[in-house]
Amino acid sequence: MGRLEGKVGIITGAVRGIGRATAERFSAEGASLVIADIDGDGIEKTAAEIREAGGNVVGQACDVSDAASCEATVKRALDEFGKLNVLMNNAAYFIGKVTVEDVDIAEWRRAIDVNLTGPMLMSKFAIPAMRDAGGGSIIHVASQLGSVGKPMRSDYCSVKGGLIQLARCMAADHVGDNIRVNSLSPGPIGTERIFERSGSEEAAQQESGSLTLMGRVGLPTEIANAALFLASDESSFMTGDDLLVDGGYNAL
Ligand SMILES: NC(=O)c1ccc[n+]([C@@H]2O[C@H](COP(=O)([O-])OP(=O)(O)OC[C@H]3O[C@@H](n4cnc5c(N)ncnc54)[C@H](O)[C@@H]3O)[C@@H](O)[C@H]2O)c1
Repeated sequence: MGRLEGKVGIITGAVRGIGRATAERFSAEGASLVIADIDGDGIEKTAAEIREAGGNVVGQACDVSDAASCEATVKRALDEFGKLNVLMNNAAYFIGKVTVEDVDIAEWRRAIDVNLTGPMLMSKFAIPAMRDAGGGSIIHVASQLGSVGKPMRSDYCSVKGGLIQLARCMAADHVGDNIRVNSLSPGPIGTERIFERSGSEEAAQQESGSLTLMGRVGLPTEIANAALFLASDESSFMTGDDLLVDGGYNAL
């Protein structure tokens, strides 16, 4: 306990799934948090539940594809807690399985806006605040599919590969500010979304869990643990790196 004591963080896309699990873990480790999501009612509810468990957390309605919304989210952290040390870009928009030939162009653009431009925008406004705080840690949540291809997933593989590259370039640009930038690449994780997509938890284990060496999907808490490492000073020699947590999905 206390591995993020005194730190202030923002986590996007935190109503449920990996974002929520990470918000719970970070707050249990002493961080004060702004949790942000396009689902404004949902994020207020999640924030209230984490506060009931003792967390110092506020909810913020935010569309990460909108610059003003990202700026307001960073401002909220400064207004509420006076500084910013950690940013986890976790929010994502999913368009489902489709080829480039068949994809709806507006849907493709939305996926790029939310999943790649969103982390850039959040970072753009967070960096000056982190510099003022003497440094910080930015985590882009990518995917094991950022390093390999998959049929019918052109948009997803492209943006996640883009996020791994974004982390490398931002790391180079801001090493002098003591701001570390890494990507975190989960393999298939058992979130509500995955269970809904597959139809049930059992079906998700068969469909996605079977693709890992371990023969199961990961737990959201297993990604939260990795995010905690990247957010904390324990990962002080990591920047521009991709932390793959995929149960061996990409090993072969
Ligand atoms: N679950 C997996 O198997 C898996 C695997 C690899 C990578 N990931 C990545 O982990 C992250 C979380 O995945 P998850 O399964 O928990 O997803 P999820 O759908 O449960 O959570 C995503 C959240 O993002 C929010 N969101 C969507 N658009 C937004 C926007 N424009 N602005 C702000 N918030 C927005 C949603 O409301 C939702 O709460 C994503 O980046 C995803 O690509 C997940």
